[in-house]
Amino acid sequence: MITVHGLVKRYGQRTAVNGVSFSVQASEVFGLLGPNGAGKTTTISILATLLQPDEGQITIGGYDLRTQAAAAKPLIGFVPQELALYPTLSAWDNLAFFGRIYGLHGKQLHARIESVLSLVRLRDRAGEAVRNFSGGMKRRLNIAAGLIHQPRVLFLDEPTVGVDPQSRNFIFEHVAQLKAEGMTIIYTTHYMEEAERLCDRVAIMDEGRIVAMDTTRALINLLGGGVIYVGLPPDAAEALLPAVRALPHVHSASAQDGRLKLETSDAKPALLALIELCNAHNAAILSLEVLEPNLESVFLHLTGKRLRN
Ligand SMILES: Nc1ncnc2c1ncn2[C@@H]1O[C@H](COP(=O)(O)OP(=O)(O)O)[C@@H](O)[C@H]1O
Ligand SMILES: [Mg+2]
Repeated sequence: MITVHGLVKRYGQRTAVNGVSFSVQASEVFGLLGPNGAGKTTTISILATLLQPDEGQITIGGYDLRTQAAAAKPLIGFVPQELALYPTLSAWDNLAFFGRIYGLHGKQLHARIESVLSLVRLRDRAGEAVRNFSGGMKRRLNIAAGLIHQPRVLFLDEPTVGVDPQSRNFIFEHVAQLKAEGMTIIYTTHYMEEAERLCDRVAIMDEGRIVAMDTTRALINLLGGGVIYVGLPPDAAEALLPAVRALPHVHSASAQDGRLKLETSDAKPALLALIELCNAHNAAILSLEVLEPNLESVFLHLTGKRLRN
């Protein structure tokens, strides 16, 4: 449904997207996961035809965005990170505005507005000015606007940032429902738990590049059962290394600057065994960090950075 090959976008001297390639199957939910500044919004804005790339080829529904953008546009629904609603207009009038942009009118427009308002559960607030809506309600209305013309692909840029927990759950359920109905979705987020729950596949982006791309399960399996970092007095770290390597659930261990790194098949029992070993040798534990196997720690493992800082 979507192919992206060698995408590059520069803003002056800064290369925001630096050779990004991926493809998304029909009915797949594809996550773009990365910290602020990774290039997620730039990538998704180019896919939504709002920005021109400097290099690269993109097809959506088989249409080449360079030569057939007009044919591709009706297939694309875009929910931007920055809200794009008219505050003084009602929810209904906002949707009517977006619907007309896509050439909807009359009964068809009316039916589409009803349908998307129900989907995001705002039907009973349709007549109210949007400026009275909570952040979460505005987000939901934004999603409704992105769906007004029945697109085949939906791009959601950080749809849950800055919304209350209840709306966050609503948004989550909407996306899950759209997924169940067969919508092809690209979802950007820096919340790894969202990506884990929703996405079939995830690309982890950092500094304009994709550093890893796979199913969430396969990415998480990169970490095995979890990684333990333990800080010990420098001589103790070296001295204990052979015994640490022999601990149950420990695949491999290495020592650097008084810190041991243990790659485990199961972090919890490995940690208990490690603590017992240190106690038995009177080695003080100076620091301890356990990376549970999840996307956040995969990201840390791959880039040395945290997703949120
Ligand atoms: N309009 C712009 N002009 C100049 N630099 C920009 C512009 N938009 C984004 N950037 C820069 O491009 C990089 C990627 O930004 P963005 O795509 O917004 O990342 P993300 O959405 O992952 O946070 C960042 O370094 C950002 O500062
Ligand atoms: Mg962004």
